[in-house]
Amino acid sequence: MKWVFLVCLLVVGGAGGTMGAIVGYRWLTSMQADVKVVPGEADLVRFTAPAGTVPRSDGELLIAREIYSTRKSPVPSSPESVARGQSLYRIYCTPCHGAGGKGDGPVTPRFIPPPDLTSAQIQGRTDGHIAYYIGYGGAIMPAYGEAISVGERWDLVNYVRALVKR
Ligand code: HEC
Repeated sequence: MKWVFLVCLLVVGGAGGTMGAIVGYRWLTSMQADVKVVPGEADLVRFTAPAGTVPRSDGELLIAREIYSTRKSPVPSSPESVARGQSLYRIYCTPCHGAGGKGDGPVTPRFIPPPDLTSAQIQGRTDGHIAYYIGYGGAIMPAYGEAISVGERWDLVNYVRALVKR
């Protein structure tokens, strides 16, 4: 009788093991084989949003810099907006751009020095251009679109403007 038990054990164990292996295999491979958007990537080449799709919250799809730069700020520069921009700036921008925007943040000795945000050159950029930089980054500057909402970008633009007004 012992061998009957052993054969049963073998059959049940073998079937279970095979099924488990299949589940494991598919679990591990299907996600990789699939088309996917990695964090921070807005892939409009492989994915086109179905007609009538609206972004969740105030998110938006990837927009070319030339187009974004022509945008007018929908957020007027009020003390409240500048204050919101300031608190965001302290969190996200000071490491590189420094508290006063001079490009002397604590990260800069070990990183590429960023430009002086109070300079005539940067202040001469359009609001849309600066908002684009915040959302999508530059050649070196990282993109903050994942962390900073579209509305908050304009608060930051207002704060960058306020850096020189003071
Ligand atoms: C990791 C460092 C780093 C952080 C953090 C950072 N920047 Fe930058 N930023 C740079 C560098 C480097 C450049 C210049 C090179 C480039 O264009 O990428 C730059 C360029 C800019 C420019 C100039 C764009 C132009 O027209 O040349 C603006 C405006 C700007 N940053 C705003 C911001 C704001 C606002 C924040 C916070 C949300 C921020 N940056 C956070 C590194 C940083």
